Amino acid sequence: MNNKIRNIIKKKNKSKIVCLTAYSKNIAEIIDNHVDIVLVGDSLGSVLYNYNTTRKVNLKMMLEHTKSVRMGIKKSLLVIDLPYNTYRNKSEALKNSKKALNVTKCDAVKIEGGTRVKDIVNHLVKNKIPVLGHIGITPQTVKGKFKSKGKTEIEKKKLIKDAEALEKSGAFGMVLECVYSDISKKITKLIKIPTIGIGASVHCDGQVLVTDDILGLTDAKIKFVKKYANIRKIINSAVSKFKQEVKSGKYPTKKYSY
Ligand code: KIV
Repeated sequence: MNNKIRNIIKKKNKSKIVCLTAYSKNIAEIIDNHVDIVLVGDSLGSVLYNYNTTRKVNLKMMLEHTKSVRMGIKKSLLVIDLPYNTYRNKSEALKNSKKALNVTKCDAVKIEGGTRVKDIVNHLVKNKIPVLGHIGITPQTVKGKFKSKGKTEIEKKKLIKDAEALEKSGAFGMVLECVYSDISKKITKLIKIPTIGIGASVHCDGQVLVTDDILGLTDAKIKFVKKYANIRKIINSAVSKFKQEVKSGKYPTKKYSY
């Protein structure tokens, strides 16, 4: 296990883990100063490519975006999402994870699922591939509408079983997506590796969000997403000023020309 991963695990019960997504170098460079983990999430499918499902994202896209993000990162742990249908069995998962780590120089992979993927996680970890788990809503395999998990006793039991399976398989942490507060609290207390919540309560060991959402670059109206800036407004204003100056012949002045 590398030091960066060890440091993430050590944060449990001491300091909250901050995680954000990045899909390219410029954003990665800015957030690297503030976060513990940068995730190249397959959410890029909806955020950048307008896909209605992350299932359309492929490994080639993930590798290209992660290579770009890598250039912007000096200190954070860099995690790549393995996209749909790239870890259907142990050998496929290992082949693609090795490729991801070799080609992009990222630190770890994230895969979706709990008990269902426990043998795959274990196989990757045994082969020195650090794995971040992901349970609760798992967008790659969700059927129908996204609905928070952990309301019924059956769902609660399943979530606990999934979390324990991931821990036992050697994952260094797990994302809890859209998991009810009482159960995310229970899981966080029960397991020794960190939980990172998205729409899953303050009780998690850390939080992850999609950077484009918190910057107001997307028009996501998701209940648990707080917008910390309105970058669209800033871009609009800058571009409109540039347009005005070009149209009125004020740009470039002598100062800005050769
Ligand atoms: O794809 C993604 O960005 C994610 C996070 C939102 C957890 O999986």
